[in-house]
Amino acid sequence: MSQFVKELISKMTFTEKIGQMTQLSGDFFASDNSAITGPLQQANLATTDLYQVGSILGVSGVDEVKKIQENYLQHSRLKIPLLFMADVVHGYRTIFPIPLALAASFDPQLVSQTSEIFSREAAAGGVHVTFAPMVDLVRDPRWGRVMEANGEDPFLNSELAKASVEGIQGQQKIPDADHVAACVKHFAGYGAVEAGREYNTVDISEWRLRDQYLSGYQAAIEAGVPLVMTAFNTFQGKPATGNYHLMRDILRRELGFKGPLISDWDAIGEMIAHGTASDLQDAAQQALKAGVDIDMMSMAYLKLARRVHPSSELVDLVNQAVERILNFKESLGLFTDPNRGLHSENEKQIFSTHNLEIAQQAAVESTVLLKNKNNLLPLSKDCRLGLVGKFADNPDLLGSWSWQGKMAETQTIKSALQENFTKVSYIQNQQLQAVDLQLLKQQDVIVACLGLSAQQSGEATSMTHPQIPDQQLALLRKLQQLNKPIITVLITGRPLVLNPIIKNSDGLLLLWFPGSRGAAALAQILLGEKEPGGRLPMTFPKDLGQIPLYYNNFRTGRPLVGDKSDLENKYLSKYIDQENQPAFCFGYGLGYAKTALSESKLDKKTYQSIDSIKVSVKIENHSDISAKQVIQVYCHQIVGETVRPQWELKAFQKVKLQPKEIRKVEIDLPLNRLAYVHSDLKRRLDPGNYCLRVGFDSQSGLRQSFKII
Ligand code: BGC
Repeated sequence: MSQFVKELISKMTFTEKIGQMTQLSGDFFASDNSAITGPLQQANLATTDLYQVGSILGVSGVDEVKKIQENYLQHSRLKIPLLFMADVVHGYRTIFPIPLALAASFDPQLVSQTSEIFSREAAAGGVHVTFAPMVDLVRDPRWGRVMEANGEDPFLNSELAKASVEGIQGQQKIPDADHVAACVKHFAGYGAVEAGREYNTVDISEWRLRDQYLSGYQAAIEAGVPLVMTAFNTFQGKPATGNYHLMRDILRRELGFKGPLISDWDAIGEMIAHGTASDLQDAAQQALKAGVDIDMMSMAYLKLARRVHPSSELVDLVNQAVERILNFKESLGLFTDPNRGLHSENEKQIFSTHNLEIAQQAAVESTVLLKNKNNLLPLSKDCRLGLVGKFADNPDLLGSWSWQGKMAETQTIKSALQENFTKVSYIQNQQLQAVDLQLLKQQDVIVACLGLSAQQSGEATSMTHPQIPDQQLALLRKLQQLNKPIITVLITGRPLVLNPIIKNSDGLLLLWFPGSRGAAALAQILLGEKEPGGRLPMTFPKDLGQIPLYYNNFRTGRPLVGDKSDLENKYLSKYIDQENQPAFCFGYGLGYAKTALSESKLDKKTYQSIDSIKVSVKIENHSDISAKQVIQVYCHQIVGETVRPQWELKAFQKVKLQPKEIRKVEIDLPLNRLAYVHSDLKRRLDPGNYCLRVGFDSQSGLRQSFKII
């Protein structure tokens, strides 16, 4: 602790300290130098409480932030500047594809680049901390928040967690005034809510939490994330926000996290609804003991401030929390410049041409081509294009958590296609009357833009049927009768059950919520100016009843063997009314160019545990156009001390090839990535026999075996 922070704490009253540990939303603060009485009264707070709180969420904009900060500092006795935090998740004003889409890029460098851009934009808008990245491992598309995540694989999740934190913080341990600080969330396990129902119970074993769920948060901490947010859910029967074991033992002691820990919105207060705290005071004490430093919006800590004689234990805990908060404020330089980052020069980069170009590139790299019958795609510029569907002329392409993104400045697919193709006939009517069908019949290709709206993905959007609504399916059925090639463009924030869509489409492009420049990216892809660069970061199930379905499930005692006997043998781990296979597996995605792998080799047959394997493989582009591929390396441990997944992603590399290029690619695989959590809850690597597979998805590839001694 610096001398400055030490002295400051020594001057603070108990109430002032609790104030620093409280975060309120922007609704409490008016920019016209007054407090807003409505929310204050509702929360039973006095104006004096307001001028002691330590941080504010959800406010941005140079003028607004400056006014609130200046007014606050005028009233605050010790002149401790406010921290401004906000959810800048996949863009500030320039909106990039949603995180799940960016995960499909399999490109950590790109994720780092997009994160850095939104961080710079947010800093110029007066934000100090973004509540990102979210690194909850997700395997259930019924849960709407899968759109904010990096998908179902622990390794991909960790690589992207690291890339996001480094990008947001501008590759600095402490972000300078041109960047915001990252806050990784939600610790821990929120992605495993039962039945995909929002805010529901999480009941995973500690072994599983450690083996698969922790690595994303750990990677963020190792990358230097300065803040962590708690999760809404329970872990082992206790709400995470009051869970001593999770926060003190695991997060702080084992993972070595030293910065401020913030609750999720009202998560301290919600311990009452969980039935594990009797009132706000009780909830506050549990959270404080668990090591939560900042109370976001439950006003529970303020209850502690009203104690006349706080216990010495309470005083100690409060002092530790305040120290962490003030250290953080000092590290950001807020005491020397409470208006950090707010320079009009910086504002110019917001929504700049450069940022939009990267947004377009990111949308190209995130788009997944799922089907391309008879190489229907790409199309020629002068083909007659019939354009239909709910999302054809709809700016709802940004996705949830695109706070400052504006639909009004988002180009629609129709507008982008009209700019890029010579003959586009757009049919607005979703019911498709006889005259519409007549017009569509004269076209060469039909592009149907279908999907779910931003309102149907993100927080609090759990669904029992993650699929395209009936009305849109009816439209597709009508189109089918025209006997024209159909390309379906999918707008979605989650995997969907797509059977009728797959059947009735010749081409299928998963655009996700592609962000500010998604429509222009789609035009480039349809024209073949760019190869779609995405590969699935989550499995697409064939049937609702298969959910949760993910590629890296554990082996069972009665596995399928993959031949005819699977049908004959009843007593296997399977369904009697559906296959185990997904519609599209993790890692899957097509390109326009035809590529192939051969000659996969490992540098040795036997390794020491400290070694890295050098995997080499030849990749060939058989086409006359340039190609893009994601080479994926999966491993499999033959015998483990606990059960292991059949295959697990352990390395990947995205490569770009010139027309007809043949290249030898070398991929490094440090063997410590194969360590796993044993039944004593410790992670270590076993000696023994392993298999490795190099391929273009999680289901097939070239196999090698090796041994660790
Ligand atoms: C979400 C968090 C978010 C917070 C503040 C909560 O409802 O769970 O992810 O950061 O709100 O907006």
